[in-house]
Amino acid sequence: MSAASARGRRAVSLRQQVLGTVLAINAVAALVAGAVVVLNARAAARNEMGASVEMAELMVREAAERIAAEGSGDSPLPTHLRHLRHVRLTVRDAAGVPLSLGDAPAGAHHEADDDARAPAWFARLADVPALVRTIDVTRAGRPLFQVEVAGVPDDEIAEVWGDVTDFAMVAVAVNGAILLALFLALGRVRADLGRFRVTLDALEHQRAVEPLAPPRIRELAELAHGVNALAAALSAARAENVRLNARLVRLQEDERRQIAGELHDELGPLMFGLKAGAESIARLAGQMTQPAPLPEPLAGRLRERAEGLVAIVARMQVANRRLLRRIRPAALDHVPLADALASLVQDLNQHDAGRAVALELGRLAGHYGPALDATLYRCVQEGVTNALRHGDAHRVEVALAEGEGRLRLVITDDGRGPPAVVREGLGLAGMRERVRALGGTCRLEPGAAGGARLWLDLPVPADDLRDEAS
Ligand SMILES: Nc1ncnc2c1ncn2[C@@H]1O[C@H](COP(=O)(O)OP(=O)(O)OP(=O)(O)O)[C@@H](O)[C@H]1O
Ligand SMILES: [Mg+2]
Repeated sequence: MSAASARGRRAVSLRQQVLGTVLAINAVAALVAGAVVVLNARAAARNEMGASVEMAELMVREAAERIAAEGSGDSPLPTHLRHLRHVRLTVRDAAGVPLSLGDAPAGAHHEADDDARAPAWFARLADVPALVRTIDVTRAGRPLFQVEVAGVPDDEIAEVWGDVTDFAMVAVAVNGAILLALFLALGRVRADLGRFRVTLDALEHQRAVEPLAPPRIRELAELAHGVNALAAALSAARAENVRLNARLVRLQEDERRQIAGELHDELGPLMFGLKAGAESIARLAGQMTQPAPLPEPLAGRLRERAEGLVAIVARMQVANRRLLRRIRPAALDHVPLADALASLVQDLNQHDAGRAVALELGRLAGHYGPALDATLYRCVQEGVTNALRHGDAHRVEVALAEGEGRLRLVITDDGRGPPAVVREGLGLAGMRERVRALGGTCRLEPGAAGGARLWLDLPVPADDLRDEAS
């Protein structure tokens, strides 16, 4: 899981991805809308300004005709012309000097409203080419004055700007609400997915899992249902596996017990008889007098051979007892596991005065079923023997405890540590097979402070499986 989770940490989260996508779409939409608004503003300003300039030109020409026919008043133009929208009128006399119109210029009432004006950058974007018309006013062929009608798009641009800002505020508010809602909804999805991850992680590491509560989102609820079904199937398969393996180890133990029994019951008396026979031959060789005492060299050789036989049988008896102890630790049948281990460690301590084996037992049940009891016993036996034999250790520490449904056995020593490449013999291979058969793991590694560290982790069988294994 570690590589996958490292990959997962590098990947973008669902929330970042969705919110980032929505923000990107919003940014593109805002750019497109801005471009459309600017183009529309330009078209509207051009149309409005064109129509206003046309209208103003028409009205100025009518006024000019009236002035030419009737003569002028105080002002060169009628006052209503001065208030036309989207145009600015400039009047110049025949010499080209601007004349005052006596009132505010056309369009001034809009320009005074500074708040409603578009900012300069928008006005520049939406600006349209200037539209100017010039009308000469004459009377009897004599030029009186000249009127310049210039289009002023500012009002239209300001109107568009007003619409844009209103629309932008609504769009920002709506998008903000959408993003907030997505943020919260995706947070809930993330929390649900987090629970999935914890459950899958527990399944992967063979820890007990609680069924997932169904999330409120339908698809996730279906997924949770699937994960729960998978967890149930997996734990049933694991339980079955443990049960079968425990049975396998139990059968092995039974077989060993049988062999041990036969070695003890059959071979033991035979060797005893052989030894007694050889001893009596040696004795008889010295006692034989009829028909004549055996010549001394012959009697001596006979005694020698018989004593040799006795010594061989004695060695066979020792080997047989050692074999019996290895095949079937008798202690396990009669005393709790902790006591059997204590007596094993005591035995191991007697091998060599210069070396010490310490045993530290945590909370332990009396028995975990014959399969697991025998496995722990043999692993301690093999682990300590290896530390003394291969590591040449002076101190070996054996720690065994039960916790959170697991049994942990750690054997550390102060020896020379395992070689870079460990060539497994029967010891480690047998240990691994037994431990794996019971659903556990084992590892031999260099110790933190030198030496070697043998590490075993085994699931504690449920009570029914313990019975099954017994
Ligand atoms: N505590 C230890 N310190 C150093 N080396 C170790 C230790 N335990 C195991 N080893 C290394 O692991 C190898 C394999 O051990 P294993 O018990 O499988 O086989 P073995 O002890 O050589 O033979 P067998 O156990 O079959 O009599 C050993 O030869 C040794 O090199
Ligand atoms: Mg070994």
